This record gives sequence, C-alpha cells and structure tokens, in this order.
Amino acid sequence: MEKLVIQGGVPLKGTIRVSGAKNAALPILMGSILLAEPARFTNVPNLRDIRTTISLLDILGCPGRFADGVVETDGCDPKPEAPYDLVKTMRASVLCLGPLLARLGEAKVAYPGGCAIGARPVDLHLSALEKMGAVFDVDSGYIMGRCEGRLKGAHIVFEKVTVGGTENLLMAASLAEGETILENAAREPEIVDLANFLIACGAKIEGHGSSVIRIQGVERLVGCEYSIMPDRIEAGTFMIAAAITKGDLLLEDCPNYALDAVITKLEEMGMKVTKEEKGTRVTYVEPLSPVEITTQPYPGFPTDMQAQFMALMCYVDGTSMVEETIFENRFMHAPELARMGADIRPAGRTARIKGRDSLRGAPVMASDLRASASLVLAGLAAEGETHVQRIYHLDRGYEKIEEKLIPVGARIQRMNEE
Ligand code: EPZ
Repeated sequence: MEKLVIQGGVPLKGTIRVSGAKNAALPILMGSILLAEPARFTNVPNLRDIRTTISLLDILGCPGRFADGVVETDGCDPKPEAPYDLVKTMRASVLCLGPLLARLGEAKVAYPGGCAIGARPVDLHLSALEKMGAVFDVDSGYIMGRCEGRLKGAHIVFEKVTVGGTENLLMAASLAEGETILENAAREPEIVDLANFLIACGAKIEGHGSSVIRIQGVERLVGCEYSIMPDRIEAGTFMIAAAITKGDLLLEDCPNYALDAVITKLEEMGMKVTKEEKGTRVTYVEPLSPVEITTQPYPGFPTDMQAQFMALMCYVDGTSMVEETIFENRFMHAPELARMGADIRPAGRTARIKGRDSLRGAPVMASDLRASASLVLAGLAAEGETHVQRIYHLDRGYEKIEEKLIPVGARIQRMNEE
C-alpha cells in the first residue's frame, strides 16, 4: 500500500489544470449502456473508479478502451449482471440499474453496501423505478430487477434529494414509453452534464439543473462525442490548498459557475478569488476569519468540500462551525486532524473547530476520499512531516495529486507504506 509523505510550510504558487469530473464521468459512462452505437468521451480523468467503470461496462456487454483522457465505447449489447466483486469497490456501479432496465428489461446488480461516510441505501432509486413498471427482489446480496416490455413514463416525487437516484431515473426515462416528470430532483452540475450528454445522443429532456425535470422517452439513442465537465470538487480542493498554505494559485479550466457556494465562503474568510483570462486565481491576502458552513444539496454548500474546509478552519484564528446534513458519518477526518494538534469538537452532525497558528505533522490514516484530501491539505501547512496512509482512497477521486502539487512548490512524495 502507498502513502504520501509531506513536508509542510511552503506557500504554493503557480498554475494547476483542473481535470475532468469523476462524478460526471461515472454516470455519463454508465449512460453508454443505453447506446447500441459507438461513443467517444474526452476529458475523462485517469482515476481508479473510471477504470473500474470500464471493466464493469465490458462485463455488461459494452466494450471500450481508455487512454490519454479518452474513452471509446463500441456500442452496447447489454448483459444483465453487475458482479459483487466490482460493485463492492465502487458504489456508483448501481448507476447501471436504470440503463439496463431501459435497454434490456432485466438487471442483476450486487447490492452496494454502506461506506465509511454512511449507510447510503438505494431505496429511492428502486421505489422510483418501480413507479415506471420495474419489479425488484433482493436475493443473496443482489438486486434483481425486471420489467415487462419498456419502462413506462411516470410522475415521480423524490422524498429526498438524491444525486444518484436522479441520474438513474434520468437515464431510464430517456428510453421509456411516454413522459416522465422528476420532482425534487437533484440539481448538481454533474446532473446537467449527464442530461447534456443524453440530449447529444437524441434524448428529450427539459428542466435539468432545476428541481423539476421532464423527459419524453424515445425509441432509441444514437452515439455521440462528448467532453466531460471539469471537476468542481478537485478545483475547490486546490482553492483550499492556496488558502491553507497562504499561497497564490491559478486554476486552469476551473468551473467557477459550479462553485458559487465554495467561493462565497472563501471570500467570507478573506481569500481573494479572481477570474483571469487563463483561469481562476486564488490568493491569500490577509489572516483568514472563521466561518460557519452547513452542507446542502446543490446549489447549497457541497458535502464533498466539508472535510477540506475543516482542515482550513484548523488554521484560522477563532471558532468555526460545520454542520453536515447529507451524510450521517462524515467527520472521520476530525480525529486524524486532532492527531496533528487540531482542536475539533464533533457533536452529532455538527463540529466546532477552534483554530490555531499551526499544526504539527504526524502519521495519519485516510478513511474516505474527501477525508484523505483534508489530511493532505493539513499536511501541506503543518510544521514538520506528515505521513498520509491508505491513499487508495485519494486515488479514487484525484488524478495523481502529488504530480499537480509538486510543480507549484509542494514537498510531497508517494512511497510504499512499508
Ligand atoms: C453522490 O453520491 C456523489 N457520488 C457523492 O460524492 C456526493 O457526496 C453525493 O452525491 C451528495 O452530493 C457520485 O456522484 C458518484 P445521494 P450519491 O444519493 O448519489 C440518502 C465523493 O466524495 N439516500 O445524493 O450516493 C443518502 O444516504 C462522493 O465524490 C437515501 O436515503 O448521494 C444520503 O444521505 C461521496 N436513499 C443522501 O440521500 C437513496 O436511495 C444523499 O445521497 C439514495 C440516497
């Protein structure tokens, strides 16, 4: 297993290019199950979850190749089964359920268990697909789904905003009979990117990006070429890297339009964020002020930026507050930051952070993707050396992060844990 060894204390300066978005690329690639024709995807990040998706698509009858940020799929002759061995490594595998039912009328997908940040059930996906005529059994750890003929358009009101549920239904409804209305739908930019991809393939979709989406099902979709949107969470993480190291970074291909809530909080703390011709510049100008954040579905403050902000708050003089409303167990980074000397008091879904001038480097353990990013950020600003272990979590969502940080001054190295 690998770890990152970080010598902290260097203000980061220079330019970083933002990669394609993991959370857009995963559902969009799953969408290729809907296509009998070839498709080509560009700006695809080289991440473990992307490679897992390519392997899963191959098993599901949708062979493809991935190289240099480009995925080419040959057209899908769908097969119903998504095996446990793959699904257990990536929860997003459940996003093949809607497309398989829409194309094949049958799906056998391993039930994606919980993960470090929460139980993460998929009941809202299943109950919505049932409204479209699907019938489900759960047997031996597998979700068995089938429907007679095509899925039928339906009026669906999500009890709770769910990104994955909205994505599964958007794909299923694109090939269903008649109109589907999704109410209380998720509004994340990645949903808009998925809808734009489906529309490029001939789908009839309106209202994506709002909480009410209308889909007119069509008989078949055609192949297309599509470029994945930039990753707002990766960009946000690098914005924090500039703030926490008191640096100055220019982020190329930064999706500002998808980062309002994040930029607003950074400016409230005292960071300078300016749009320039070549990208977005994030500059430390003065001692930062404490803030309060509450995670919410988009356009609210993203839960996927909560851990990174908590790391920053540890270095801000005064008391900051975090309220996590999306996942029930997303403070796993707090005790690890405390190992570096942070003063964090979690209480249920809120945490109070009393900042201090500096933290000290220490061996710390990553528990999930964004928690690992927060530990890397804390290490970049800490006195001494930090060893971040179990970085396989980090590699799920960041494309070789050290290769992006070293050119802007970071003293960071990937090593074997032994
Ligand atoms: C997506 O997960 C993202 N993953 C997550 O990013 C992100 O944190 C999350 O949306 C929220 O923004 C991908 O896009 C691959 P949800 P998803 O369905 O779709 C509950 C990262 O760091 N719920 O919107 O799984 C659920 O338990 C990852 O990149 C049900 O109760 O999230 C959670 O509390 C982590 N029943 C809440 O809703 C359901 O059927 C939101 O989940 C579905 C969800």
